[in-house]
Amino acid sequence: MTHVFTIAIDGPAGAGKGTLARRLADHYRLNLLDTGLTYRAVAHAMLQVGLPLDNVSAAETAARQVDLAKLDRAVLSAHAVGEAASKVAVFPTVRRILVEKQRAFARTPPGAVLDGRDIGTVVCPDADIKLYVTASAEVRARRRLAEIESIGGTADFAEILADIMRRDERDMGRADSPLKPAADAHLLDTSEMAIEAAFLAARAVIDDALAMRNRA
Ligand code: C5P
Repeated sequence: MTHVFTIAIDGPAGAGKGTLARRLADHYRLNLLDTGLTYRAVAHAMLQVGLPLDNVSAAETAARQVDLAKLDRAVLSAHAVGEAASKVAVFPTVRRILVEKQRAFARTPPGAVLDGRDIGTVVCPDADIKLYVTASAEVRARRRLAEIESIGGTADFAEILADIMRRDERDMGRADSPLKPAADAHLLDTSEMAIEAAFLAARAVIDDALAMRNRA
């Protein structure tokens, strides 16, 4: 059986894991899945037809209809969709449906970088590499504000910070698959680290693991 290579990246919103995942997927020529988009797709489908986000069976139906090949980042990246995603993400049945799709993606050769909240703990517990990318809530809020301002928008720092803290609480506090580092994850705190430095640190970890595997 050909071995597929899996890199699992977890962490809170705004820690820089998305950019890191993209850079690593490019560098190691692996497939890339931002699993947050799958939860966002469920929330978006419900918001579009005005369904309440606590309607579990509607959320399950929307989850079954998620097509990983058709996730539209431009549509799904809206802030309100992220908020709504964290609400439908608490339902274990919704998670199970999406996790199956994510695992099938991870199994496809040559392997993949997956980023999310529960990749190293639940989706791919046997991943070759697990990274937990974090940064202080203040730094994440500052980055988010800079991002909004760079595209000509305006926002209030205190509001963004409150939003981030609320999302952290929901993601870390839920009963099913809470956000937490896997026991064997490498921690990367990007509070005082540029994305390039995080990329280099991650590569060092991955290259070590690859060298060890080639020796075995
Ligand atoms: O990463 P992103 O902000 O796109 O994720 C949106 C929401 O989807 C998160 O706040 C979280 O509640 C949920 N999510 C999850 N498990 C994942 C990825 C995202 O519960 N693997």
